[in-house]
Amino acid sequence: MTIGIGLLGLGTVGAGVAAILATPQGRHPLVADLELKRVAVRDLARPRPVALAEGLLCTDPEAVVDDPAVEIVVEVMGGLEPARSLILRAIAAGKPVVTANKAVIARYGDEIAAAAQAQGVYVLIEAAVGGGIPIIEPLKQSLGGNRIQRVSGIINGTTNYILSRMAAEGAAYGAVLADAQQLGYAEADPAADVQGGDAADKIAILAGLAYGGPVDRAAIATEGIDRLDARDVDYAARLGFVVKLLAVAEHVGQDDDGVQKLDVRVHPTLLPKHHPLAGVHGVNNAILVEGDPIGQVMFFGPGAGAGPTASAVVADILNIAGIRQVGGASAGLDPLLAASSWNRCRLVDGLDSQHRNYLRLLTRDEAGVIGQIGSCFGAAGVSIQSIVQYETDGPGAEMAAGAEIVVITHQVQEARFRGALAAIKALDAVESVAACLRTL
Ligand code: NAP
Ligand code: HSE
Repeated sequence: MTIGIGLLGLGTVGAGVAAILATPQGRHPLVADLELKRVAVRDLARPRPVALAEGLLCTDPEAVVDDPAVEIVVEVMGGLEPARSLILRAIAAGKPVVTANKAVIARYGDEIAAAAQAQGVYVLIEAAVGGGIPIIEPLKQSLGGNRIQRVSGIINGTTNYILSRMAAEGAAYGAVLADAQQLGYAEADPAADVQGGDAADKIAILAGLAYGGPVDRAAIATEGIDRLDARDVDYAARLGFVVKLLAVAEHVGQDDDGVQKLDVRVHPTLLPKHHPLAGVHGVNNAILVEGDPIGQVMFFGPGAGAGPTASAVVADILNIAGIRQVGGASAGLDPLLAASSWNRCRLVDGLDSQHRNYLRLLTRDEAGVIGQIGSCFGAAGVSIQSIVQYETDGPGAEMAAGAEIVVITHQVQEARFRGALAAIKALDAVESVAACLRTL
C-alpha cells in the first residue's frame, strides 16, 4: 500500500527528502511505500538536483495540501507565512504534517499542537532541531522517566562551522559564512544563524519538550556571534578555552502555583578545552541533556545540510506511515509521539545563575590599573582566576599607550559579577569593555 507524500519546498532539505524517496533500496522497507505525489516550489524554471516525474512540480502550495492523493504533508519551505497557514490547512484537512521549520514551531507550536490534537493528527518535527541528530523523539519518549535539570548544546551548524574554521585556520568571518551558505547550512536569511535567533528557536522547542510546557520565545536572551571579535577567539585559545555558540535551558525552580521557572538563553560561551561540547567542530551539533536519574547523555551529529536533515524528515514520515500501516490512527494519538503539554513555564532573568566570566578591557597602560580592577572585583566578592595584560599593538589599538586586560573570574553569581562590572566601567583608567563572555 503506497502513502502519498506532498512536499512544500524543494530546496536544500526538500531535495534531500526527494532523493531518499527516489532511492529506497537498502533502506527500511516502508520507504518504498512512500510516493511523492506533488511538490510546491516558487520558481519552476530553477534547476533541481533531483529528477522528478513529469507534472509533479507546481507553484501552488495550497493545491499540494488539498490534493486528495497527498496523505502526509511535508513542509520544508521555511519562513513564517505561508508555512504556518499551510500546516494548519493540512491539519484541518485531517492530514499529518512533518516539518523542519523551527521558526514556525518556536512561535506557533502551541496553536499548531492544539489544532493537531483536536483533529487527531500528528505534527512531527524531528528535523527542526539538530539536523540529523535524533533529539526530539528522545526528549519526548526515551527520556520521559527523567526530571530534566538542563539541556545545553551547540544547535546551530552554520555558526559552529564558522567558529571552527576561524579557530583552526584564522579564516575570515565573511568568507566562511559564504561557504556555509553555499553548502546549504545557513537559513535563507543567515542573520537568523549568526545573530542567534535560529538557536533560540531551537532551544525554545527543546525546553518546551523537556519541561512539558511552551516557553515564551520572545523572552529568550539571545546573543549571536556576529559581534564576536576574532581577538577573543584567539585569547580564549591561549587561555585554554574554545568559543562556541551555546544554547541553554535550565530548570531553576518552581513558583508556589506550580509554574516551572526556567533560565533559557543563547550566547557565545568559552568552554574549557576538555568540556564534552568543546570537541564539536564544523557543521556538527551536540546536545547535552542532564537529568535525574540518567545523569548526562549527549547527542552528537551533523546539524545541518541536505542529507542529515532529510534523514530526520524521513524518520518522521516513517513514524506516521508505520502507525497508518497498523491502523493506529483510529485508536487516537500516541501521547508520547504527539506534542503534549502538562506544565506551565516562565523564564527568569538569570541573575542568580552561577558561572565564570571572560572579560576584555581596553585601559590606559599605567601603574595601578590592574590593582584598581582587582579592587572592584574584590569589593563585589568576585574572585579572579587569571588576569593577563596584552599590549594593544594590533587591531583595536586605537588608544595611545593602551593596554588590553583579559580577566577570567571564578564561578560567581551573575548579579554579583554585574555589580563588579559597573564599578570597573566607571574607573577613569578603563576606556571600554571590549568583550564580556560567559565561561563554563
Ligand atoms: P531552501 O533551500 O531555501 O528551500 C526552500 C524551498 O521552499 C525552495 O524550494 C523554495 O522554492 C520553496 N518555497 C519557499 N517559499 C515558497 C512559497 N511561498 N511557495 C512555494 N514554494 C516555496 O530552504 P531549506 O534550507 O531547504 O530549509 C527549509 C526548511 O528547513 C526551513 O524551515 C529551514 O529552517 C529548515 N531546516 C533547514 C536545514 C538546512 O540544513 N538547510 C536544516 C534543518 C532545518 P524555490 O526552490 O523555487 O525557490
Ligand atoms: N541554519 C541551520 C543551522 C540549519 O545552521 O543550524 C539547521 O537547522
